[in-house]
Amino acid sequence: MTEHTPIRVAVIGAGIVGASVIEQLAAHAADLQSRVGRPIELVGVGVRDASKSRPGINPALVTTDVVGLASRDDVDIVIELMGGTTDAADVVRAALARGASVVTANKALIAAEGVALHKLADNSGADLYYEGAVAGAIPLLRPLRESFVGDHITKVLGIVNGTTNFILTQMTDENLSYAEALAQAQALGYAEADPTADVSGQDSAAKAIILARLAFHADIDVSRVSVEGIENVSIQDIEAAKAMGFAIKLLAVAELTPDEAGVVVRVHPTLIPADHPLASVRGPFNAVFVSARAAGDVMFYGRGAGGNPTASAVVGDLVTVARNIASGSRGFSVTPYADLATRELGEGRTSYYVNVQVADEPGVLATVATAFADNGVSIQVVRQDGAADNASLVLRTHIATDAALSRTVETLRSLPAVRSIVGVMRVEG
Ligand SMILES: NC(=O)c1ccc[n+]([C@@H]2O[C@H](COP(=O)([O-])OP(=O)(O)OC[C@H]3O[C@@H](n4cnc5c(N)ncnc54)[C@H](OP(=O)(O)O)[C@@H]3O)[C@@H](O)[C@H]2O)c1
Repeated sequence: MTEHTPIRVAVIGAGIVGASVIEQLAAHAADLQSRVGRPIELVGVGVRDASKSRPGINPALVTTDVVGLASRDDVDIVIELMGGTTDAADVVRAALARGASVVTANKALIAAEGVALHKLADNSGADLYYEGAVAGAIPLLRPLRESFVGDHITKVLGIVNGTTNFILTQMTDENLSYAEALAQAQALGYAEADPTADVSGQDSAAKAIILARLAFHADIDVSRVSVEGIENVSIQDIEAAKAMGFAIKLLAVAELTPDEAGVVVRVHPTLIPADHPLASVRGPFNAVFVSARAAGDVMFYGRGAGGNPTASAVVGDLVTVARNIASGSRGFSVTPYADLATRELGEGRTSYYVNVQVADEPGVLATVATAFADNGVSIQVVRQDGAADNASLVLRTHIATDAALSRTVETLRSLPAVRSIVGVMRVEG
């Protein structure tokens, strides 16, 4: 083995991200060789449809036998960029099982199987890196794995889905309805034809699970992760939030419980003060706050998706893994060791925004206030707008448990004077 012996790489998936990775490998081959200490050689490209025209990719390298490619003895590093959790899992397992390192941007796979895949990598002596899986180009997982590893993280909170952030930004700035903003996001290529994974919060939840594992060195019980999307955020919510000096963002939150014996992982639309740095994160951008005992608050900001930004993270991981191979070492294991239970959201405590349509008649405010008091939730601010025989009451509570707030909302629904519950959201910051 000399400095001229290539490190052989297979890229499996040559779509938006994969094609950009292949382009970067060719464009920066000489620099990458200098940085790694050995040349990087692309020896195979896995796809679903081999007949598609793929400019810049040698057709002789293309195959549809993706597991076969990942299993080849002469492949040192497999870059998985096909997506999904079935065939991609077979590819990643085939590589790790024989000791070949893996780089992936597949958040769904890592969220679902990351712990098992890390164990497999530990057993075979392979590396497993996935910086591109969370917040695209933003270096976030490596700081959690390496830079903060001597500190004690208490909370990770951020905007990790550009599609939903674009939609909420357009609703706020242009007064568009949710449906109009979604249509605009699709027309501009920020949202897919089927936007479910993004708008339902599932994409953010996968990222929150990955962040929580790395921040707290703990396994996360996926069934206890609370996920709420933006489908029900209305223009009335946006207006009411603005009037109170807040913005609405879809936040992914992973935090230690106050007793530090558990972790809560949650994704939901959230009111944050208009002067909070996350409120100024607009359009498709992402930003994440990490709070740690010694470091305090640290914010990461940048492009959270797209072929080139994600390829930047993927090729960065590739260089790390290739350097390890060149030096005969491997990265540190991140298999969880901490005994922290995943706690249900009901045990979490936060402040809430509640927007109710009520009959515009005397005594309604007192009736509504009593519903809060009876359930142990204290009100911080109330704003009332009258309109015809309908009035809107917008309330912000002091810190309360989710369970107490849920009971309050149930009581409100049962009151004859309450016409509808327009919105209920958590308030952060
Ligand atoms: N796009 C982004 O901005 C972004 C950002 C961060 C992370 N990611 C992640 O990166 C991964 C790739 O995303 P992408 O947007 O590049 O996807 P994409 O454009 O849909 O490309 C997927 C590629 O994988 C191939 N493929 C899919 N299923 C396959 C199968 N069963 N067998 C063989 N080949 C298969 C496709 O082959 P054909 O070309 O023949 O169809 C295509 O080349 C996903 O895990 C995604 O979550 C994407």
